[in-house]
Amino acid sequence: MSQIESVLQENRVFAPSEAFVKQATVSGMEAYQALCAEADRDYAGYWARLAKEHVVWKEPFTQSLDESEAPFYKWFTGGKLNVSYNCLDKHVEAGNGDKVAIIFEADGGEVTKVTYKDLLSRVAKFANALKAQGIKKGDRVIIYLPMSIEGVVAMQACARIGATHSVVFGGFSAKSLEERILDAGAVAIITADEQARGGKHIPLKPAVDEALDLVAGKSAIKSVIVYKRTGGACAMKAGRDVWWHDITDSQSEVCEPEWVDAEHPLFLLYTSGSTGKPKGVQHSTGGYLLHAVLTTKWTFDVKPNDVFWCTADIGWVTGHTYITYGPLACGATEIVFEGVPTYPDAGRFWKMIQEHKVSIFYTAPTAIRSLIKAAEANPAVAPKSYDLSSLRLLGSVGEPINPEAWMWYYENVGGGRCPIVDTFWQTETGGHMITPLPGVTPLVPGSCTLPFPGIQAAIVDETGADVEWGKGGFLVVKKPWPSMIRTIWGDPERFKKSYFPEDLGGTLYLAGDGAVRDAKNGYFTIMGRIDDVLNVSGHRMGTMEIESALVSNPLVAEAAVVGRPDDLTGEAICAFVVLKGARPNGDAAKAVIKELQDWVGKEIGPIAKPKDIRFGENLPKTRSGKIMRRLLRSLAKGEEITQDVSTLENPAILDQLKQAGS
Ligand code: PRX
Repeated sequence: MSQIESVLQENRVFAPSEAFVKQATVSGMEAYQALCAEADRDYAGYWARLAKEHVVWKEPFTQSLDESEAPFYKWFTGGKLNVSYNCLDKHVEAGNGDKVAIIFEADGGEVTKVTYKDLLSRVAKFANALKAQGIKKGDRVIIYLPMSIEGVVAMQACARIGATHSVVFGGFSAKSLEERILDAGAVAIITADEQARGGKHIPLKPAVDEALDLVAGKSAIKSVIVYKRTGGACAMKAGRDVWWHDITDSQSEVCEPEWVDAEHPLFLLYTSGSTGKPKGVQHSTGGYLLHAVLTTKWTFDVKPNDVFWCTADIGWVTGHTYITYGPLACGATEIVFEGVPTYPDAGRFWKMIQEHKVSIFYTAPTAIRSLIKAAEANPAVAPKSYDLSSLRLLGSVGEPINPEAWMWYYENVGGGRCPIVDTFWQTETGGHMITPLPGVTPLVPGSCTLPFPGIQAAIVDETGADVEWGKGGFLVVKKPWPSMIRTIWGDPERFKKSYFPEDLGGTLYLAGDGAVRDAKNGYFTIMGRIDDVLNVSGHRMGTMEIESALVSNPLVAEAAVVGRPDDLTGEAICAFVVLKGARPNGDAAKAVIKELQDWVGKEIGPIAKPKDIRFGENLPKTRSGKIMRRLLRSLAKGEEITQDVSTLENPAILDQLKQAGS
C-alpha cells in the first residue's frame, strides 16, 4: 500500500524535452488527442485506417470489426496476410536486406549479427524443414528453447507456414510442459540440448523426454526437433527426435509464405488465472500484428537508426510482441541476449548498452531493483561506470514500478534526458494498453499515465458503473481492440466468464487489476491484481497452481498460498501448509521447507518456489469451511490482526501461523 500512496502523492512531473517532441512519431498532446478523437468518432474506421497503413495485406480486408458473436470479436474479416512476410520479406524487397536485424549476445559474451536477408533465409529453410516433418497450417507446435536466434527463427517459421506456436518458458518444468502439450494438442516440440545461463550449462531436453513419457499414449507429438546449443550430452530417441541442423541445412532458402486469414491463430501462450489450470491465451494474426507494429512505432518511437533492446524472454508475451514480432515488423535492429543480468557481473546490461550503442531499452522493475542493489554494493557495476549516452528512451513492463526505482532509472540510466514509458498490458492484450507516448505525455513516476490512442480503458465498480477519478475500482476496457485475446484455447466458456463477467454487464473486458485515476489529470495507477494471481519478479503465478502442486506432495494435507510485498521481487510467495504428520520444528521444519520448495520447483518451475513456508495444524477457516485468505495475507506481511476473527472456526490457529518459518 505504501507504494500506491506514494504514487498518489507524487507531484514530480517530467515533461518530454522539446528535442524529443520534435522528432517523435506521435508528437505533442494535440496529435495524441486527435488520434483519440478519431477513434471516438469512428472506432472501426480508425483501426481500419491504421491496419491499411501499417500492415501489408495479400488480400485486403472487407470488414474492420465484426461484433456479431461478441465477445468473440473478429477483426479485418476477409483480409489475408502472413506475419513472417511482414517481418522479413517486406524489408528485403524494399532493399534493406543488408540491415542488421538481430545482434545476439550469448551468455559467454560472443556476438552474432544477422541481417534481414540472413534471417529470411534461416526462417525459410527452417519453415521448409518443418513442412518436411509433416507440420502444416493449423498444427500446434510447442517451442521450448533458450533465448537464441533459433528461438526467433522457430517462431517466425511457424508463422510462415501457418502453424500456431506455443512457446513454453525454458524455466518451466516437465510437468508444466506436459500440461501444455496435452491442452494444445501439439504435434511437435522444438527444443535444445541445453541452455547456457550464468556460465553454467543447464539441460533442457531431459524435461521434454520426461514430459513425453508422462503423456505417452495421450499426445499427438510426432517429432522433437533439437537445436544443438552447447553440444552437451543429449539422448535422442530414434524415430522421434531429430537435430535441427540435420533437417534444415539442405533445405531451400525459398519458402512461399502461407497466406492466412486475419483471424488465424498466430499463437497460444499459457498464462496463470485464478484456477489451478493455466489458460491458453489465443491470439490472432492480423489484429495482433497491427498492435505490435503500432505500439513499437508509437510507444517506443522506433526509427531506422535505433538499436532496440527488450530484455524479456521469448517465453513471455513481452518477448513475443517486442522481440519476435514488433521490432522486426518495423525493420529495426534489435538485441537478443542469452543469460542473466548479473553474469559475468551486474554491469552486463550497461556494458551491452555501451558496446552495442543501444538507443531504446525496455526492462522490468525487478531487474532495475536488483541492479540498484548491485550498484550500491559495487560502484564498478553501476551505470555511471559505463557510457550510456546512446540511450534516448527507456521502458518498464510487467509490474508496478515504485517511484524510487523510477527515479533511479531516470537519473542513473537515462541521464535525466530519456523519457520512461511505463507500459501496462497483459498476455491477453497482445500489446501496450496504458502507457505514456514519449513525445506526448508528461511523466509521473509510478503511473502508466494514459491509454494508448483508441484503447477505451476505464475504471468501474462491482456493477460495471464508472467510478469518479480519484476513486479506486476495477480496470476494464470498454470496447474490443484488434490485438485482444480471441478465446481461451479449448474453453470458450472460461474465456467469457473470466474476461466478460455478467456482474459487470457482460460487455466490459475485465483486466483483473485494480486501478485508480488521478483526480486532477486522469492518469492511471495500477494497484495490482484483484484475483488470486501473484506477480513475482514480473512473472505471473496463480496461487491455486502452487497450492495444487503443494498438495500433490505426499507429506501435505492442505495448503493455502498468498502473496506478500517484497522489496526486490515486488511480491513473494508465502505458503501456509498443514502436513499429514505432526507439525515440525527447528531443523526438521527447515528440511521439510526445503523439500517442499524443491517439489514446487519440479512441479511448476523454480519461479514458483514459495519463499516462505509456514506450518500449522490447521488453516484459518470460517464455520462454512472457507479459508480466510485475507487473514493469511495479513499474517504473511507480519501485520497485527485487526480484522474481526469471531467468525473463525479455530481462532487459536492464528498464533501458530504467526511464527515465520515455523
Ligand atoms: O498486474 C498487471 C501486471 O502484470 C499483469 C500481466 O501479466 P502478464 O500477462 O504476465 O504480462 C506481463 C507483461 C505485459 C497485469 O495484469 N503489469 C504489467 N505491466 C504493468 C503491470 N502492473 C503495473 N504496471 C505495469 N506497467
